[in-house]
Amino acid sequence: MPTRNLGLDLMRATEAAALAAARFVGRGDKEGGDRAAVEAMRLLLNSLDFRGRVVIGEGEKDQAPMLYNGEILGRGNDTLWDLAVDPVEGTRLLALGRYGAISVIAAAPEGSLFNPGPGFYAAKLVVGPEAREAIDLRASVAENLKEIARALRKEVRELTVFVLDKPRHARLVEEIRTAGARISLQTDGDVAGALAAVLPDTGVDVLMGTGGTPEGVIAAVAVRALGGGMQMRLDPQSEEERWNLIHAGYDLEKVYGLEALCAAEDTHFAATGITDGPFLRGVRYGERRAWTESLVIRGATGTLRKVEAWHRLEKLRGISPVAY
Ligand code: FBP
Repeated sequence: MPTRNLGLDLMRATEAAALAAARFVGRGDKEGGDRAAVEAMRLLLNSLDFRGRVVIGEGEKDQAPMLYNGEILGRGNDTLWDLAVDPVEGTRLLALGRYGAISVIAAAPEGSLFNPGPGFYAAKLVVGPEAREAIDLRASVAENLKEIARALRKEVRELTVFVLDKPRHARLVEEIRTAGARISLQTDGDVAGALAAVLPDTGVDVLMGTGGTPEGVIAAVAVRALGGGMQMRLDPQSEEERWNLIHAGYDLEKVYGLEALCAAEDTHFAATGITDGPFLRGVRYGERRAWTESLVIRGATGTLRKVEAWHRLEKLRGISPVAY
């Protein structure tokens, strides 16, 4: 029996967040854009007939108005879903009007998402379905690229690797160049980078490098649902972060596979473009209307939907306090 696809509801929350954030594109106001998206996402999620608890959010309760870890959302009484949310993934991209800002939510059965604890950063390796058996975070960059190229029936020099453009990646970039692969260096947005690596025809074959741990867990839900491959290892970027992780019992050598990052199959994922990106176009405006493009992915079936929507702004403003 087909059951409800929660992702279609969650998409309404990423749409609302993207529409609210889109008013801030290029305006240089990271916090303002994030706040508008958070408020819109919270309002929409609270209107839905479901019950979710934020497990990957934007910090702790005292940092409100962010969606905080432990916050319960929705007006349903049934099964509790764990939520990983990022109302604006790529706040700098939004503030500067750059390519690749998205709004995203992942939902998974209670207790099934990896808890990064005090870990802010992790090394990640992500590929699409054809190369899922070819990756090994313990092996060298060159070795991984060789195996990925073999799995994709390409030459290494025909691979494109998404890497965040950060000083910590100087050596990684050097190793990729020495191996001969091409690089897409982007300032932010490695959830979009991971999705680009998994989805076909995005021009990206693999994501490598260190980014946010929460972003890694969000990406893992989509990667698993789409049959891709992903590995992650905690990679603290300060002594304090390292100490906190060790003190909390985390093994810094451990490589987490997809099942450890997202232990369930029955998941839902929704993302809406804020600015244009490799697989979603950003918000556009027409006469009294706004247009969005979203992805909805369901783990249980592996179905990937791309949804375009025209929103009638005056009507929406009449029934909702969201700043459309
Ligand atoms: P925000 O949306 O929170 O600004 O995150 C953007 C991002 O680029 C993520 O995609 C990435 O995982 C993380 O920041 C990397 O962190 P840092 O910029 O500190 O290296």
